Amino acid sequence: MTAVGIDAIEIRTGKLKLDLAETFAPAQGDDPGKYTKGLGLHASSFPDVYEDIVTMGANAAHRLMERKGLSPQDIGRIDVATESAFDNSKPVSTYIAGCLEQVYDGDFHHANKGERKFACISGTQSLDDAYNWIRAGRNRGRSAIVIATDTALYARDDPGEATQGAGAVAMLVSEEPSLVELSAEQGFGSADETDFLKPNQQFPSVDGKRSVNVYLARMREALDDYASVAGDIHPEDYPLVPFHTPFPGMVRKAAALGYRHIVRGTDVEDLLAEEIGHQPMPEDFETDDEWHAAIKEYTDALTETERYQDWYADTIEPTLDIARHVGNWYTGSVHLARASGLKHAREHGRELAGQQLLVASYGSGAQAEVHAERVVPGWEAEIAQLNIDEQIRNRHELTFAEYEQVHDVHNHDQESDAEEFTAPEQEFVFDGWGRMGERKYRYVE
Ligand code: COA
Repeated sequence: MTAVGIDAIEIRTGKLKLDLAETFAPAQGDDPGKYTKGLGLHASSFPDVYEDIVTMGANAAHRLMERKGLSPQDIGRIDVATESAFDNSKPVSTYIAGCLEQVYDGDFHHANKGERKFACISGTQSLDDAYNWIRAGRNRGRSAIVIATDTALYARDDPGEATQGAGAVAMLVSEEPSLVELSAEQGFGSADETDFLKPNQQFPSVDGKRSVNVYLARMREALDDYASVAGDIHPEDYPLVPFHTPFPGMVRKAAALGYRHIVRGTDVEDLLAEEIGHQPMPEDFETDDEWHAAIKEYTDALTETERYQDWYADTIEPTLDIARHVGNWYTGSVHLARASGLKHAREHGRELAGQQLLVASYGSGAQAEVHAERVVPGWEAEIAQLNIDEQIRNRHELTFAEYEQVHDVHNHDQESDAEEFTAPEQEFVFDGWGRMGERKYRYVE
């Protein structure tokens, strides 16, 4: 069977930076350690006044197409995953295709376009859609572009304000991919939850603490469901495990839970038992509180072991490198984690070809999905093309007063006439409003 998977990835960060420890924490009266140690975040990215989910997505897709030498005729599908859409009818993918048509000969009239919504997991769902479309033989030799793009803003002084971010990840999904091959095996954990939602409002209603617990509960179900199709899994089967990363501290919790789960029934469980005892099981406790206290105690002991810490340093830590400097990108976040892990592996000479990544996605509302991806020979050449370090370095660093202005600029309910902080160059920019309330874009040479 022909391999289908991700052929190329491009990452586009918002061009502004808010330093959380130096600038945000003091203004909020917080200890910087809450950000750098607790949440695991140093900075958030924000869009400049001429950037938004369309420009970030279109700029990522443009670089992707240029780099791969593609024309609109090569693309049969453009799917956008976002939870920051500004229109309940016209999908963001039409705006992005419109941008790209400004710079290419030909058009995307033949391409199926859509927009996926399920909080942060819709980026992964769009990948699944693209995979299924190719597997079903409906692609007529063409590839799909999947774009996960978001501006993750919270209301001022909401606890979520600490975990904001903005950026886009564009992925080319093709036959015979150059990066990772997807498979039909996946596991789900899905339930009707109200942890984070935006009922016709721009800024989310969030029950932050609950959202952390719902993430963990759904992830546990998805892991069980995945194991039911993939068979026995072992922690050493996966050199990298990219998780959805709203903030790295969330992944610290999820990784410990995942590890506890996947070591069960393996030699690692026996080795750990010699050191810290056996994992507590719910049937051994009379009340939920006793069971939760025992699990917390066991998890604390587990995360102190050298075995766990070595696994975490190799398998999880590299996937968090980029997130620490850009914050939460919602739909793009797990795809940023994959790219971050692969980038780190290339820079450290790790040989991953033929090995499997275990990818753990999550969206509030709520659903988790776990699947494996096989790294394809030659992946290093593809990942070497990323220019995210340069983009991160070149961001304009905001003062707190400037941050307040930028938050207002992107607040749909505020009128703001802030000047741009950076000069656009060779990119799509927001260019005002049209007569039907549509957003307009142009390419700046
Ligand atoms: N040094 C080290 N760690 C510190 C610290 C310090 N000075 N101050 C606080 N911390 C730790 C806390 O102990 C906590 O870690 P823990 O959860 O492991 O105990 C962490 O930093 C965050 O501090 P907390 O007081 O819990 O932050 P908060 O009440 O402002 O809320 C969120 C944190 C994540 C709930 C909030 O940012 C939020 O609602 N985010 C949006 C929702 C979200 O992203 N959910 C994730 C699932 S999708």
